[in-house]
Amino acid sequence: MTDTKTQPGLDGVVVAQTVLSEVDGEAGRLIVRGHPIEELAGAAPFEEVARRLWEGLAPASPDAPRTAAEVRAALGQARAAAFAIVAALRGAVAGDGGSGGALPAVPALRLGLASLRSGGADHILATAAIPVFVAAFERTRRGLPPVAPDPALGPAADFLRMLRGAPPSGAQEAALDAYLVTVAEHGMNASTFTARVVASTRAGVLPAVIAALCALEGPLHGGAPGPVLDMLDAVRQSGDARAWLAAELAAGRRLMGFGHRIYRVRDPRADVLKAEVAKLRAHTREAGGGTGASDTGGTGASDAGDSGHAGSRLALAEAVEREALAALAAHRPGRRIDTNVEFYTAVLLDALRIDRGLFTSVFAAGRAAGWTAHVFEQERANRLIRPQSEYVGPR
Ligand code: ACO
Repeated sequence: MTDTKTQPGLDGVVVAQTVLSEVDGEAGRLIVRGHPIEELAGAAPFEEVARRLWEGLAPASPDAPRTAAEVRAALGQARAAAFAIVAALRGAVAGDGGSGGALPAVPALRLGLASLRSGGADHILATAAIPVFVAAFERTRRGLPPVAPDPALGPAADFLRMLRGAPPSGAQEAALDAYLVTVAEHGMNASTFTARVVASTRAGVLPAVIAALCALEGPLHGGAPGPVLDMLDAVRQSGDARAWLAAELAAGRRLMGFGHRIYRVRDPRADVLKAEVAKLRAHTREAGGGTGASDTGGTGASDAGDSGHAGSRLALAEAVEREALAALAAHRPGRRIDTNVEFYTAVLLDALRIDRGLFTSVFAAGRAAGWTAHVFEQERANRLIRPQSEYVGPR
């Protein structure tokens, strides 16, 4: 039967059943494979959450990893496989021979993913390759040699090591790991839906992940956290948060890091990440500094420097958040617009001294686990996703 009523933005349309997550927009609750996100972040490492997401959905094979330790080892081996093609791509990323200059992070990541050879476990390959490409291509843009992965490390620690050229502190590893878990899966968001559309054509895992990354890039989705940091910088410079935010809204611009299609209350991930920033700050303050040496300047810093930086940024963020919520309530009295995941994503990744140009790609490093799980779920009960449009042109 054809429903001829158009639904812009597919608001309220249910397009799939899933065992992966429930996003309760009224209660502000996110359940990932049966567990509230607050129970997972900081408690289960990313490889365990990836294992749970893939469990029962990834194609069965005798050598498929079954435990978190096996997933961690498989991701490590896949990082090494991805790194093997980095050398061949560095010229293109640096813009050698072309007039356009170096490729920004997301286009460079797309190039990396598109250059992977599809093989056995493409979900593991894609998930492992993203941090490798993000780190190696960032170093390429900075004129530094890439750092080979250490397959024995966990994905968060190895990403920071590959990016900075020096191992992170335990607190930094824990903070990034909690971030990757927090963003790993979130229902039928735009990029996940994109992945499922591509999967429904039987294009396979890698094309679905590349397409999902394209959807993630936009500022209404995973492209928001870089602009959140720009906003915090601009507010600090203006010296008057209330006036700056009011001027933005009066000009018809959206405040980045606020609002959500599903959540009518605060996005639960915002508080998870805010707590991680505070933890990182407390740990680094106790450590007293000195363990964060790196060769990437802007992407590495001492723990003491990190603590001061995270602390002042967190205080500013809290003040801006309060003002923004008040301004949004006055701007749209009938619509509850609250803080979303991207607001404290920006504060956390900045506290880890990750350059804002990489934020969307780091988001993808966590979300790849969810995207690929959805690809398998789609493939298992596939029906080509093919909605209709309502013709309103001349006849
Ligand atoms: N700033 C100002 N106004 C806003 C904002 C905001 N952040 N968010 C919603 N509104 C207003 C708009 O004026 C919009 O009205 P319009 O239709 O006249 O333009 C109205 O509220 C829409 O409200 P919703 O239906 O609740 O929001 P929608 O589902 O259309 O958009 C979105 C959700 C895209 C996230 C939006 O809130 C937004 O643009 N936020 C800023 C960007 C951002 O933070 N993106 C990250 C989202 S989280 C993620 O994807 C991982």
